Amino acid sequence: MAPESGTLNLTGIWQPNQSADRRMGTVPAGPGLVGETVPMGAGPIIVVATLKGGSGKSTLASSLAVHWRLAGRTPVLIDADPQRSLVRLAAREEALAGVPVFENCRGTVVATADQLAQIHAPVLIDTAGFRTAATLAAMTVADLVILPVKPSPLDVDVMLDTARALLSSPDGRSARFRCVLTQTTRDSVISRHIRAELTSAGFPLFETELVNRVAYGEAALFGATPSMIDPHGAAAREIAALASEIDSLAIEVEAAA
Ligand SMILES: Nc1ncnc2c1ncn2[C@@H]1O[C@H](COP(=O)(O)OP(=O)(O)OP(=O)(O)O)[C@@H](O)[C@H]1O
Ligand SMILES: [Mg+2]
Repeated sequence: MAPESGTLNLTGIWQPNQSADRRMGTVPAGPGLVGETVPMGAGPIIVVATLKGGSGKSTLASSLAVHWRLAGRTPVLIDADPQRSLVRLAAREEALAGVPVFENCRGTVVATADQLAQIHAPVLIDTAGFRTAATLAAMTVADLVILPVKPSPLDVDVMLDTARALLSSPDGRSARFRCVLTQTTRDSVISRHIRAELTSAGFPLFETELVNRVAYGEAALFGATPSMIDPHGAAAREIAALASEIDSLAIEVEAAA
């Protein structure tokens, strides 16, 4: 049921309702979109997950949400990590450009996401760097799971060990997913190697990489992201390029529906 303005019984930073950008249709299987056709009544719900700590999940989720907010969309963030990284970021001066952040690190995150998807698009869920009930539950409502991975063999191994279990639900359905390389050194051999390794393991990647840039940490000091601090800088451009890749997935979905 859609929440009424100001009545959601959740801890978080509330903003007045904004116009909904809801999509009706079906999501067909496709490259990186594994699984049968499923109904999409609202959303989309994007879950950022890997069971590898420090891979860049919170940075990615907040950067994408702020980008879409600045582009005039109505994104919302759900912080499903008991560490509360997004809640803490939003409590700082720049408050993530006003993107609402709701907190739910329990299995009931599904209901929170479904409610918020009635009035926000997209809904982005940031998960913990370890296995939690909330992460497993979030997988069941994800229209897309994004797996950030650092270009190091150790990170990739842990990611591969955990991702298949994470992406397979008990009913045998697989979540739709894509990987994204984060904290990379531009055009490095290791990035290219890891990209090839992931692709051959059946883990498709976004073309865009989030290069290791000081802009992320500097922006976070103020509760901001690079798109707010330096909208024309390299980091902001990479975030925009990734957002555009994600959007084009949705456009394909809509066109095929
Ligand atoms: N592209 C990047 N360039 C530079 N620093 C980055 C980038 N992405 C993330 N970081 C930094 O790496 C650190 C870890 O990132 P982040 O907190 O987003 O990871 P996480 O996966 O959410 O971690 P956890 O598993 O603990 O929740 C942070 O200090 C963040 O500022
Ligand atoms: Mg985090």
